[in-house]
Amino acid sequence: MTILVTGGAGFIGSNFVRTWLAEQDETIVTLDVLTYASNMQNLAEFENHPGHVFVRGDICERALLDALLLKHQPRAILNFAAESHVDRSIDGPAAFVRTNVQGVFELLEASRAYWHALDPVSQKAFRFLHVSTDEVFGSLAPTAAAFTEQHPYQPNSPYSASKAASDHLVRAWHHTYGLPVLTSNCSNNYGPYQFPEKLIPLVILNALAGKALPIYGDGRQVRDWLYVGDHCRALQIILRDGVPGQTYNVGGGNEHSNLDVVHTICDLLDAKRARADGQSYRSQIQFVQDRPGHDRRYAIDARKLIAELGWQVEHSFETGLSDTVDWYLQNADWAESVVSGEYRSWMARHYGACDV
Ligand code: NAD
Ligand code: TYD
Repeated sequence: MTILVTGGAGFIGSNFVRTWLAEQDETIVTLDVLTYASNMQNLAEFENHPGHVFVRGDICERALLDALLLKHQPRAILNFAAESHVDRSIDGPAAFVRTNVQGVFELLEASRAYWHALDPVSQKAFRFLHVSTDEVFGSLAPTAAAFTEQHPYQPNSPYSASKAASDHLVRAWHHTYGLPVLTSNCSNNYGPYQFPEKLIPLVILNALAGKALPIYGDGRQVRDWLYVGDHCRALQIILRDGVPGQTYNVGGGNEHSNLDVVHTICDLLDAKRARADGQSYRSQIQFVQDRPGHDRRYAIDARKLIAELGWQVEHSFETGLSDTVDWYLQNADWAESVVSGEYRSWMARHYGACDV
């Protein structure tokens, strides 16, 4: 049996591939176009793994998708592929509409044709799991109840609007065509292998490099942080036990302001790798201009996933963040190559052309 994972060379996708190959005896085909946010070093340990096939390719390319599905006959597709950074979506929204909307449309259409041709037993067992975000629900007031699956979609950024559009397509392909889809809406992830344009890795690496730690606006925006390993386990459970057509919220129940997160990282680094001058890393904090349209608060109510599918968070924010800081301290080569862009030229040398 085989599953197809799109976007598997990115942050969450590569963590999913690692967890899967450690625990399951089932082949993964990873499809990734290798944007700036990807990193083949995230998957380097699986280069010669008999249960892993890597294909460089774009989810917007229907012919490639058709050929891939025909060749590998997956029993499930997990879609992680996306443009994922809010700030980049503000600077250049076109790529977000292309991959997150057009790409998901192509993937759904290729999946529908493939699924339609399967025998009845395989059709019944097939799943299309779309990995989405809590940002589709918009911004919460400070004391409002956390997002449930029934919360109206109110996306505010080009990123969240493009993800909302993809969620609607996925829903419609189930309602209209009967494609057995599942959608997960997850809160902010953190952990190993996250590209350092996102808050937590950016703060860790900037702190160590003696650079400023930029806090947007007043730093009082709240995010609900989830350790990536807990997200990956949730996805495995949803894939196995989720009911087709249903959506599942995934969140850590760890609401913290950005300022608190940055302070905690500074304190961890003070304890683990003190600055030579004895000052706290907190002295590197700089308040900078706020993000346009910045959502004030996200919070996830994950009770449906917990009650119906038995998922539980395993990492507290304290242990997860401490482990994450340790990972970045122990993987300075990974961080250095990402920041320097060395890995990009390595990828260009190794993965020049798209293939099936
Ligand atoms: P990421 O940016 O680290 O990885 C995305 C991957 O998709 C990259 O490897 C990239 O090369 C690939 N990709 C982009 N466009 C592609 C295309 N057209 N064809 C094939 N591959 C393409 O993102 P991430 O943080 O790992 O997020 C994965 C998914 O989870 C995304 O769909 C994102 O919306 C969702 N999500 C992320 C978070 C978070 O906190 N990071 C939270 C909730 C949901
Ligand atoms: P980010 O990691 O980009 O995730 P998202 O925008 O999807 O929530 O940002 C997390 C929070 O941190 C968000 O409120 C924006 C804020 N932030 C900063 O204050 N400074 C930064 O340099 C970055 C990247 C983010």
